[in-house]
Amino acid sequence: MPREKILILDFGAQYNQLIARRVREQNVYCELVPYDTPLAQLRAQDPMGLILTGGPSSVFADGAPHCDPGVFELGVPVLGICYGTQLMAHLLGGKVAPAEAREYGHAVVGIERDSELFLGLGNEMQVWMSHGDQVAVLPDGFVGLAGTDTCPMAAIADSDRSFYGVQFHPEVVHTPHGADIFANFLHRICGCGRNWTMANFVAETIASIRETVGDGRVLCGLSGGVDSSVVAMLLHHAIGDRLECVFVNNGCLRAGEAEQVVRVFGEQFSMNLHYVDATDMFLAALAGVTDPEEKRKIIGHRFIDVFAEEARKLGELAFLAQGTLYPDVIESVSAKGGPSVVIKSHHNVGGLPEDLKFKLIEPLRDLFKDEVRRVGLELGLPSSVVYRQPFPGPGLAVRLLGEITPDRLAMLREADLRVRQEIERYEGRDALWQWFAVLLPTQSVGVMGDARTYEYTVVLRAITSEDGMTADWAKLPYELLGRISNRIINEVKGVNRVVYDISSKPPATIEWE
Ligand code: XMP
Repeated sequence: MPREKILILDFGAQYNQLIARRVREQNVYCELVPYDTPLAQLRAQDPMGLILTGGPSSVFADGAPHCDPGVFELGVPVLGICYGTQLMAHLLGGKVAPAEAREYGHAVVGIERDSELFLGLGNEMQVWMSHGDQVAVLPDGFVGLAGTDTCPMAAIADSDRSFYGVQFHPEVVHTPHGADIFANFLHRICGCGRNWTMANFVAETIASIRETVGDGRVLCGLSGGVDSSVVAMLLHHAIGDRLECVFVNNGCLRAGEAEQVVRVFGEQFSMNLHYVDATDMFLAALAGVTDPEEKRKIIGHRFIDVFAEEARKLGELAFLAQGTLYPDVIESVSAKGGPSVVIKSHHNVGGLPEDLKFKLIEPLRDLFKDEVRRVGLELGLPSSVVYRQPFPGPGLAVRLLGEITPDRLAMLREADLRVRQEIERYEGRDALWQWFAVLLPTQSVGVMGDARTYEYTVVLRAITSEDGMTADWAKLPYELLGRISNRIINEVKGVNRVVYDISSKPPATIEWE
């Protein structure tokens, strides 16, 4: 059965992915598509409804993004949000004008007329506004649904044609009834069921993997992170021992990590797991290297060499599975043609040698990260894997500034273990995105007992973030900071000082290299 689907036309506001997340939280599948997607392509996807998002432009600015006006002839309900509402009014013959003052922040709208959109939501509602323009004259067939003193047409509708528009932002948490508004639009107005569940996704995906792979075999690079773990589990359920997983230890993993991967995937789930301990080779290649980009490149290239060599040993494999997620897909669409600067070269399994030709299988390419985690739980992965914090491909190498030696790696691994153990016990942990130790190459003077010491400094990094693109340093309790510092200085030989990194991103990055 084809998936019921909502299409979200993206007019460029920064938080448009949030709209997609809100729709999916209502158990309705949706996709974000560029605002200028040709009408024929929109029609071919047979959507149950459309959402026009916010965006930074003014509808009458030169080059303002306009969708094909034919979207209003598709015969499906449309919900405009902020710029999307203004554009709908503009294209359907109404008038948009600059508001007296740019409005930004909390507002209370009075609901003036009954509608399916606000059904069950009372007479007034807290909302979040952020706009310069607003609808001044309604198009034919439209009525006002709700307003404020400064924005009399904060919500508009032509219920005969099922067109609705809100000037405020139902997708942000500052609009407490936002979820109800989406629910009304999706279930009442568009008639969508609640079919987008992770149980359905798992069943559908296993069936489609079986169909694609036939009786072929699949190679999967397992890193122990949540994405590759969930990919491996889906494939394992779909094709059993025709899945070959390769896990490479690059010598820069955290304490206990390799053992956990072997225990969970090799022993608990009895997968074909090929564990390659290439520690010596990686550390030899990294000896004497201090430049961060150089470290990343060496690890990336060597990883491909090791992975390819292992793959060749495994004989004929037609498919390679990858953990591409939906935000990567959206980014690659919106970044097309745009110049971008490489801040850090993140490594992945791209760039395999010519003789290894695979067809790609990307079972997670429709999912957001929180959905991947829910699929992981659905498939029985342990929560230590499902909720594992992000860990960069080059591992501890980019947290060890200066030269990488076995001794200094061991020091960092021990310090990091203490950080993880203490944060594990911290009740505020769920609010954190990442927490780890960094080892600096500088030594400083200290005193231990009666003796002078001259030892290394560990940096504690703990951050909050929505997506890793921006981040803030976490306001950890002083007692916790003190405990982590004491444990590291007392228990890790070679360290006499711990400092806390209080930089946000930007301008700092999350990792130190
Ligand atoms: P930065 O340091 O760029 O990190 O602020 C943003 C997020 O990406 C993670 N990160 C990586 N992940 N391969 C990865 O898979 C990498 O090479 C890599 N470098 C950074 C980082 O941990 C943070 O979550």
